[in-house]
Amino acid sequence: MKKLLTACLATVGMAVLAGPASAQIVGVSWANFQEERWKTDEAAIVAALTAAGATYISADAQSSAAKQLTDVEQLISQGAEALIILAWDSEAIGPAIESAEREGIPVIGYDRLIEDPYAFYITFDNKEVGRLQARGVFEVQPAGNYVFIKGNGADPNADFLFAGQMEVLQAAVDSGAIKNVGEAYTDGWLPANAQRNMEQFLTANNNAINAVVASNDGTAGGAIAALAAQGLAGSVPVSGQDGDFAALNRIALGTQTVSVWKDARELGRVAGEIAVALAGGTAMDAIPNHVIFSDGPRGESMHSVLLAPVPITQDNLNLVIDAGWVAKDVVCQGVAAGTVAACN
Ligand code: GAL
Repeated sequence: MKKLLTACLATVGMAVLAGPASAQIVGVSWANFQEERWKTDEAAIVAALTAAGATYISADAQSSAAKQLTDVEQLISQGAEALIILAWDSEAIGPAIESAEREGIPVIGYDRLIEDPYAFYITFDNKEVGRLQARGVFEVQPAGNYVFIKGNGADPNADFLFAGQMEVLQAAVDSGAIKNVGEAYTDGWLPANAQRNMEQFLTANNNAINAVVASNDGTAGGAIAALAAQGLAGSVPVSGQDGDFAALNRIALGTQTVSVWKDARELGRVAGEIAVALAGGTAMDAIPNHVIFSDGPRGESMHSVLLAPVPITQDNLNLVIDAGWVAKDVVCQGVAAGTVAACN
């Protein structure tokens, strides 16, 4: 009997030991969840965790760097065994990464660079996003006055995007074909701030603006509202990013030229899977398809997975519809029959 009991206890003990591997808790710290795209990211993360038998817990920093620090502490105290962090402020998040490291909890820097080699970096190639934005606008407007509606200054993506944009446009700037008549960061990526900046650029240039390189779809929407108020929406090309539904509809309607689509379902799935692997003790080096990214401001070598973005214009709107990203009637709302192939 004693033997049996010991054997039983040993089995229970093993089951307890094996427990965390199959029922891990993954904590996700969102930066600004109110934006459309993050709900898609979240659904994909949750699906990947559920498939692996892991549990999802989360917090939303609501655009506050201070709240994000306490959010991460709370996720840790709720038992998170891996953290996925979308940083609101890439520098201010530092102490949270240090806490996680002290506790031996792996961290994934999600979408935005947290330039600490302790974190695994998962994102789309953001410079490439910038190149695709500039190329989309440049192809239809290779000369004239350009405005740059940049992202939030505390988000490293803002500068990666701008760097990619300038790679494409620099030669035309140097030749004088293109003139940069205004560039501004957009505080908090907020469309209202983008609109205000765009209004100021329009006023300062007596409306003589020929192209707008906006860094995401939210800011594109703000810029297009300012153009519309001057009767210029549709005649001035505008870029964006994210495949937001309203932006895809604007592309069909002709007021936005390009949105760079980053399938957030893919990013979320990869992050969920890697979080489970890291929580289970897999080394960063052993994560399949990883590359070393050292293109950040400090040149740190970061284990990374970089996914490829896809530019969407009126000509290939069918891609996002066929991929089940968005319904055709959403993209095609208000589009005159026969004007856009994907809407026929
Ligand atoms: C960036 C992200 C973009 C965009 C933006 C606004 O960091 O890469 O996809 O959505 O934030 O939150």
